Amino acid sequence: MEHIKKYIKENKSRFINELVELLKIPSISADPAYKKDVLNCAEEVAKSMKNAGAENIEICETSGYPIVYGDKIIDNNLPTVLVYGHYDVQPADPLDLWENGPFEPIIKKTDIHPEGAIFARGSCDDKGQFYMHIKAFELMMNTNTLACNIKFMIEGEEEVGSENLGVFVKENKARLKCDAILISDTGIIANDTPSITTGLKGLSYLEVEVAGPSRDLHSGLYGGAVANPINILCEMIAKMKDEKNHIMIPGFYDNVMQLSESERAEIARAPFSLDKYKKALNLSEVHGEEGYTTMERTGIRPTLDVNGIWGGYTGEGAKTVIPSKAYAKISMRLVPNQSDKEITELFSNYFKQIAPKSVKVKVTPHHGGEPYASPTNIPAYIAASQAMEVTYGKKPVPVKSGGSIPIVALFEKELGVKSILLGFGLDSDAIHSPNEHYGIFNYLKGIETIPHFFENYRKLR
Ligand code: BES
Ligand code: MN
Ligand code: MN
Repeated sequence: MEHIKKYIKENKSRFINELVELLKIPSISADPAYKKDVLNCAEEVAKSMKNAGAENIEICETSGYPIVYGDKIIDNNLPTVLVYGHYDVQPADPLDLWENGPFEPIIKKTDIHPEGAIFARGSCDDKGQFYMHIKAFELMMNTNTLACNIKFMIEGEEEVGSENLGVFVKENKARLKCDAILISDTGIIANDTPSITTGLKGLSYLEVEVAGPSRDLHSGLYGGAVANPINILCEMIAKMKDEKNHIMIPGFYDNVMQLSESERAEIARAPFSLDKYKKALNLSEVHGEEGYTTMERTGIRPTLDVNGIWGGYTGEGAKTVIPSKAYAKISMRLVPNQSDKEITELFSNYFKQIAPKSVKVKVTPHHGGEPYASPTNIPAYIAASQAMEVTYGKKPVPVKSGGSIPIVALFEKELGVKSILLGFGLDSDAIHSPNEHYGIFNYLKGIETIPHFFENYRKLR
């Protein structure tokens, strides 16, 4: 497979420059102010597919942002791999914490990335990662080594819940017919410890409102005599978990599978240093559900977190006021067999049940998604594992992630096909945070590994 290394060596700087150009487009799907940029980004993705040699390229309109489709069918008797990714990115704020502009990519060396990393919003999540597939496809086309049929589906609404992609998948089952789905939108343990993600969490995301008096009140005249919605909201949030950090919503754990000792041993085998973990986050102690390790807490146990909380006066100086209303955004990460719709309902019932009579509460569900588990004994997983084994010189470790890509469970339900989560990012790459970056090593390693996957999958299937 010398042609792979040779092609990458000869085209390395162009591969990097092209990604840098793509990263200059602020394709923030959450903020309507960037609509033109998101649409422009879809055009650029389509062009890059065309330049690499794809056919049947279409920018498929939806009720939201378009999905970019392209394919190359070389032989109907060969297996077909569907590559999924997303060209939209998270908002870049807080802007003042970025060392460079989020859409002015720069390459800098770091301790973890001595060969340099590209700093920009979307560099790792997910532009840098889906673009590896376009470059690997270009490589296979130009070296006459494409081993399977390939279909690309790159969407623009992953960071806002993929609702229109769900519709698109249901309406385009024939066009999307495939034998395996390959996704690079997750990570590896470390650059010397490859891993493949075998689990994604589901998600129930909602907003709550606690309403007290009909207007903001003087906190001296009324304080202590009427319910303060912020105080009440905090008390209600405190009732979400007991002293063992066990979630107290009745029925919450009903469908959660108890792990066998051998499954727990398997999780414990993955290389993980609690000391390094604490150091990287500047923590003196970790925190979580009693009786479980950090890897178990993130990988296989459901969680509940407040993502934002507001109300009352938060401006300069002091204002003595009892607010009329208080709000919070709350997310629950779910594990296999928990249904996001059921959990949203259980939360909603519990929240209303624990509300004192002195306030009125509202629960508004946002997006959700089902969890996903990938087996390690199917041809596509083995093909990915063997591909990494060749390019990293080490067999990758299967790892369950705490992150969510809700559309993956829908792919399985609607298309009946399992996804392989062959991601190359690092937890320290700061996705969704200021100074997001993606290692040049990781980018090129991904481009190198993908053609091996195609070769292996053709043989193993
Ligand atoms: N690529 C991430 C998910 C991810 C990252 C999974 C790293 C595993 C490892 C994806 O873009 C993402 O951010 N998902 C959201 C959910 C979505 C509905 C906004 C998440 O996990 O919060
Ligand atoms: Mn992503
Ligand atoms: Mn993301």
